[in-house]
Amino acid sequence: MEIKVDLYSDTVTRPSEKMRQFMAAADVGDEQLGEDPSVNKLNEMTAELLDKEDALYLPSGHMANQIAYAVHCEPGDEIIMDASAHPLHFEGGAAAVISGVSLRPLEGKKGIFSAKQVKNAVRREDYHHPRSRVVSVEQTVNMGGGTIWPLDTIKDVCELSQKYGLKTHLDGARLFNASAASGISVEKYAAEFDSVWIDLSKGLGAPVGSVLAGSEEFIEKAHFWKQRLGGAMRQAGIIAAGGIYALENNIARLKEDHRRARFFAEEISKLSSISLNSGAVVTNIVIFKINNMPAKKLLERLLAKGVRLSQVDDERLRAVTHLDVNFSDIEYAVEVFNRILG
Ligand SMILES: Cc1ncc(COP(=O)(O)O)c(C=O)c1O
Repeated sequence: MEIKVDLYSDTVTRPSEKMRQFMAAADVGDEQLGEDPSVNKLNEMTAELLDKEDALYLPSGHMANQIAYAVHCEPGDEIIMDASAHPLHFEGGAAAVISGVSLRPLEGKKGIFSAKQVKNAVRREDYHHPRSRVVSVEQTVNMGGGTIWPLDTIKDVCELSQKYGLKTHLDGARLFNASAASGISVEKYAAEFDSVWIDLSKGLGAPVGSVLAGSEEFIEKAHFWKQRLGGAMRQAGIIAAGGIYALENNIARLKEDHRRARFFAEEISKLSSISLNSGAVVTNIVIFKINNMPAKKLLERLLAKGVRLSQVDDERLRAVTHLDVNFSDIEYAVEVFNRILG
């Protein structure tokens, strides 16, 4: 089956010709020894962007979440996060295996929970309970439909967490999308958190990697975990250069992805069999409900016409825009929706 328009995820992008040339020309060294100049540059760029003391290049966002948890927690601790959060569903139970911790889900609104909810969830000091240790926030919220945590809510949640002695962690898989849509800098979004990471392989279009940032002390411990988990690399400058190129060239264009997602949402929401509030689409993710057939069936019918989406559950599908989807691709996807459901 030829995929003509791939809205499966923003992870499906392929490096552009210019990015490939930049990567091919990268200075490299042994990353594990700290001698790769391109990796070191990427770490410095990220620390500066997020205004943190230090940063660490990693193979994936998944590993960034897990290393942060491992540094912040001891076995038996509990991490508070939204019920839709990535580590609860898509990281293979890694937090339990690697750090020996449990995850406490909160029912946020489209992935956004309040300081009051955190307060209610924090465990009392009592030997019966696990110890609440970390509050984790996802910006933007993937399964919330790309929703953006407002800065005030972040401040309230982090302030409350600090008051109770909890560490705060920001899963920034799509932090740049939030910033592009709101005009608030990534630095401001990251300011309240003890640890934060950005993903280079999603909207930014690099082939591999994430960068975890925090205090010098945090990154020193994170480095230890990176080695322990086998995340240290060799001439990783080749792939890190894709990240440098992405930070230098692909941030400003994220607004395009948002415009396309909004247009797509507005068009398909005109179909009576689709339930979707297109006004709530603010970044690059569109999650909608299909009323007259199982989601899987619509997924298959779309795919038969070359349009790939992903399935959220029995009733909902997700479409994600990214730099390999242009406006005419979106128009084609809308046309296919109309043909199937119109
Ligand atoms: C919100 C969120 N967190 C973490 C991850 C994991 O990132 P990676 O695919 O780089 O491991 C993803 C991936 O889709 C994600 O959407």
